[in-house]
Amino acid sequence: MLIAERIKFNLFLVFVLLVCAVSSKCPKGNQQCSKEYEPTWESLDSRPLPQWYDNAKVGIFVHWGVYSVPSFGSEWFWINWKNGEKRYVEFMERNYPPGFTYQEFAHEFKGELFNATQWAQLFRESGAQYVVLTSKHHDGYCLWPSSRSFSWNSVDIGPKKDIVGEFIILSYSLM
Ligand SMILES: *[C@@H]1O[C@H](CO)[C@@H](O)[C@H](O)[C@H]1NC(C)=O
Repeated sequence: MLIAERIKFNLFLVFVLLVCAVSSKCPKGNQQCSKEYEPTWESLDSRPLPQWYDNAKVGIFVHWGVYSVPSFGSEWFWINWKNGEKRYVEFMERNYPPGFTYQEFAHEFKGELFNATQWAQLFRESGAQYVVLTSKHHDGYCLWPSSRSFSWNSVDIGPKKDIVGEFIILSYSLM
């Protein structure tokens, strides 16, 4: 466990260094690189699209979490249901007992077939230029053992696995 933690930390450092190396490759006189942004949407939205993102023709976003248990509608299941959207309410009435809570889905989020090696291989073979894992969606459930989200993360409840951790380690080994 301790070694795994250390490897993870080292990989994180490598990642930070890579990001620094890439961002310091800014051509002199390039206004976009030296531009400072304000904490407003207008300012943040004025950022240019990164070149690599624009060039990459195929990328993958993975949405996988507690909302995958009902697998109905979208990853916005909880709010759609609680906002009283008819088809969500009916889905719950049809399939779950009265009083069932969103949190109870987490027990059924087992991820027993999750295999980071297979994911990483599949992503690479697909030709995708980038992969984004939604490590935490709007329901707040973390796919890593976050101490800020105790009993609502993938190690405390659900798969009992550090999904993000396994995924990062495997992704780096395939780079
Ligand atoms: C994960 O998948 C890889 C590649 O298919 C396989 O070699 C490995 O045994 C699998 N791990 C588990 C725990 O099933």
